[in-house]
Amino acid sequence: MKHTEKTIDEKIQGKALFTENKAENTKKLFIESYGCQMNMNDSEIVASILDKEGYNTTQILEEADLVLVNTCSIREKAETTVRKRLQKYNAVKKVNPTMKVGVLGCMAERLKEKFLEEEKIVDLVVGPDAYRDLPNLLTEVNEGRDAINVILSKDETYGNVSPVRLNSNGVSAFVSITRGCDNMCTFCVVPFTRGRERSRDPKSIILEIQEMVDKNFKEITLLGQNVDSYLWFGGGLKKDFKKASEIAQATAVNFAQLLDMCAIEFPKIRFRFSTSNPQDMSLDVIHIMAKHKNICKYIHLPVQSGSNKMLKAMNRQHTREEYKELVDNIFRIIPEMSLSQDMIVGFCGETEEDHKDTLELMDYVKYDFGFMFAYSERPGTLAAKKMPDDVPHHIKKRRLQEIIDLQQAHSLYRTKQHLGKVEEVLIEGTSKKDPNQWKGRNTQNTVIVFPKEHYLLGDFVNVKVEDCTSATLKGIAVGYSDNN
Ligand code: SAH
Ligand code: F3S
Repeated sequence: MKHTEKTIDEKIQGKALFTENKAENTKKLFIESYGCQMNMNDSEIVASILDKEGYNTTQILEEADLVLVNTCSIREKAETTVRKRLQKYNAVKKVNPTMKVGVLGCMAERLKEKFLEEEKIVDLVVGPDAYRDLPNLLTEVNEGRDAINVILSKDETYGNVSPVRLNSNGVSAFVSITRGCDNMCTFCVVPFTRGRERSRDPKSIILEIQEMVDKNFKEITLLGQNVDSYLWFGGGLKKDFKKASEIAQATAVNFAQLLDMCAIEFPKIRFRFSTSNPQDMSLDVIHIMAKHKNICKYIHLPVQSGSNKMLKAMNRQHTREEYKELVDNIFRIIPEMSLSQDMIVGFCGETEEDHKDTLELMDYVKYDFGFMFAYSERPGTLAAKKMPDDVPHHIKKRRLQEIIDLQQAHSLYRTKQHLGKVEEVLIEGTSKKDPNQWKGRNTQNTVIVFPKEHYLLGDFVNVKVEDCTSATLKGIAVGYSDNN
């Protein structure tokens, strides 16, 4: 899943999230979300729960009755940004002393009570599986007591909570299908903050998509830390699958089957999914993608490193050779597939040789996009406990720059392949640079801008690609696509 961080200077943007107000709601909620798309979707679940408690969203911090910040722990920088944000809330509280402040998400789960001790401004600490408890916790807070719930759950998927869409373009939306992660990559804090893997009932997924379709949405991204690991067998933790009844095992739904169900049920909706873990990805998924035009030909397939030594130290369950074989198979089945990566440079013990292996793997795959990071040690992970963070900062920085430069060259190589082609684009909004141009994405997830003419937001349009940079295609619409 993409984190909203810039890779090199690691600027992290929070977002004040809002939706249409309801006349009957009297209280004001200011909510912002840091980190991944899953957090964004969780904030929508929280807004839905609080809507029923009489809260409307506001974009004006100073007028809020309740401020909630959904936090990210993935790298140290993400946490420092949130701490700085809390200082801003502190200043506002001086003019608005009745305002309450709550911390949600991964930092809440990681720091627990410590948050209340370390940050005096915080009244409320709620972990990712405890959002249903928010109404009770708010009663505590409003009676003047601090409140905390960081209990991780075996079966919480918020399956029956219909998220309030925040900052929505009305065209594309996220639907969570799994929560948690069992993979235990040694560098990663997610298994600790989001708990064990569990999947959501396919019926509730289909129902939520139907709601989106009824509201005229055109594109759904199925979300999870590890979507390919999706497995519905009646609920509960994935690791308990073997203990489930024979019937439950025999009628279980895996990710390829779920994708197939969604694509068949909603033939006019575009489907995307994120994130795929190479070790959990089956070729069945690729075959289902090939079978349906409405499943976008794009996979985010993080590898983290091209070195077998590093992959082993990271507890990734595959070698570089196996990863290359997977990539070969993907391109064999779907030649036009677009792939993106996550990479970590400077993990414990990484040598120049290991780094060269990463560059070599990137040359082999030529990813369309990439999200690249310098290793940041996270407290509590196996790497933090057992492996020295021994690559000096300046070397991490240099290696990071090298992979960013190489990725940029590959991105340009990939965008150039689109020149002269006519591609189906879903219009998602106005181009940031030019109000007379639309912006949308093709099936490969590449952004395309083109003159608006008579086309409208949410239209599927055929666009002829005429020019490109490494990040964006430029074109001209040649008519509606047959998906309208
Ligand atoms: N499976 C998840 C991964 C979440 S973390 C998903 O949905 O994408 C996103 C990315 O952050 C990882 O793929 C990894 O490249 C990076 N990352 C995770 N822990 C990190 C750490 N300690 N230091 C630097 N980067 C890290
Ligand atoms: Fe983290 Fe690895 Fe899971 S990167 S989210 S532990 S697949």
